Amino acid sequence: MDRKTKNLLWPGNILRMGLLWTTALLYSYFKLFYKRLFGTLRSYPHVLPQSDYKPVCIVTGATSGLGKSTAEALSVQGYHVILAGRSFQCLSKTIAEIQHRHEGVSLKAIELDLCSLESILKFKDSVLDWLKAANLPSSLQLLVNNAGILATSQGFTSGGYDRMMASNYLGAFMLTHLLLPLLQSSSCPPRIVNVASFTHWCVQDIQVNEANLAKGDVQNSSNLNWYQLARIYESTKLYLILFTFELHRQLYIGNHLHPISVTAADPGAVETRILREVPNWLSFVIFKVMKYLCLMQSPTMGSRAIVDAALAPPEASGKYFFGGGGRTIEPSTLSNDSELAQKLWKASASLLHIAT
Ligand SMILES: NC(=O)c1ccc[n+]([C@@H]2O[C@H](COP(=O)([O-])OP(=O)(O)OC[C@H]3O[C@@H](n4cnc5c(N)ncnc54)[C@H](OP(=O)(O)O)[C@@H]3O)[C@@H](O)[C@H]2O)c1
Repeated sequence: MDRKTKNLLWPGNILRMGLLWTTALLYSYFKLFYKRLFGTLRSYPHVLPQSDYKPVCIVTGATSGLGKSTAEALSVQGYHVILAGRSFQCLSKTIAEIQHRHEGVSLKAIELDLCSLESILKFKDSVLDWLKAANLPSSLQLLVNNAGILATSQGFTSGGYDRMMASNYLGAFMLTHLLLPLLQSSSCPPRIVNVASFTHWCVQDIQVNEANLAKGDVQNSSNLNWYQLARIYESTKLYLILFTFELHRQLYIGNHLHPISVTAADPGAVETRILREVPNWLSFVIFKVMKYLCLMQSPTMGSRAIVDAALAPPEASGKYFFGGGGRTIEPSTLSNDSELAQKLWKASASLLHIAT
């Protein structure tokens, strides 16, 4: 058997996840504490869009965990929420659950598989058709790129991309580009929120090029026999933050006519189905230890940072939300590297054949 399919327990993965990820999470909370101590902590309020239409938002990965909680919270705030996910059945079940808890909320299910270019294109067409049919032509105001996985073995999409890289970063990059014209025509200030993670702190050095992006490789290490799932997950989250800041520079700072605000949201550690590929005994231990350390949150608690970012005023563009209560911290220095962000942008656009 290919060792890349049997690698979760490789000490490098376990050490990174157990030690580095926990340290990165504690460091993020320390940053919040430090800002509070020195009075530099800023909280952004929730600002609901003012519009004649009910604003529409899209939440990807809305069938479970943080996506489901975010979709529920935004629908309660008055959004018409398009829930995007791989299975229509799961989406319908999620909608029924939310509608059972909150009467009168507006929800719509549309299938989307971020690992398939055809599915992303079809999703965009379905959104367009639905907006036209519902007579809501310029009401797509918010896109929440939430979907993501922690893959424990290597696998490739039909397009030949590493499936974790495709689910967590490349799919969001493609979807965002396809939906930009719709967001730009929004009658109220449009927003994009990318769901990041504290794990990005663990990436100290990264080789960005098309081949590495496609393979999910991070340091030209394809000669290794192990699938470096921890490193690859961290790098997909770093890429999302670099993408967030590059979009912010292009769509908010550099676009005075119709700016789109772009933020990143880090939910912290949350008890969801993210560890679904990890053996049950191991995810049980991880959740127990994190709960013991008081670091594990419920999806409702974790989604506060995402909802804060989604409802923040436009001037919060370029911020990294963490910890709820509208609070933000600075992410890693590497994630603020604008040269690296441009390099990533070019490599991603070229790989996905997007003209920018
Ligand atoms: N949980 C945490 O501690 C934590 C911490 C930091 C960041 N995050 C991030 O938060 C986001 C949500 O994760 P979660 O913790 O809520 O995990 P989850 O419960 O496993 O939910 C993941 C969602 O993503 C969807 N998804 C996966 N692959 C997809 C694809 N190819 N196309 C479309 N949808 C896809 C799943 O849909 P299906 O039902 O189709 O599988 C599911 O709805 C992820 O980006 C994750 O990296 C999580």
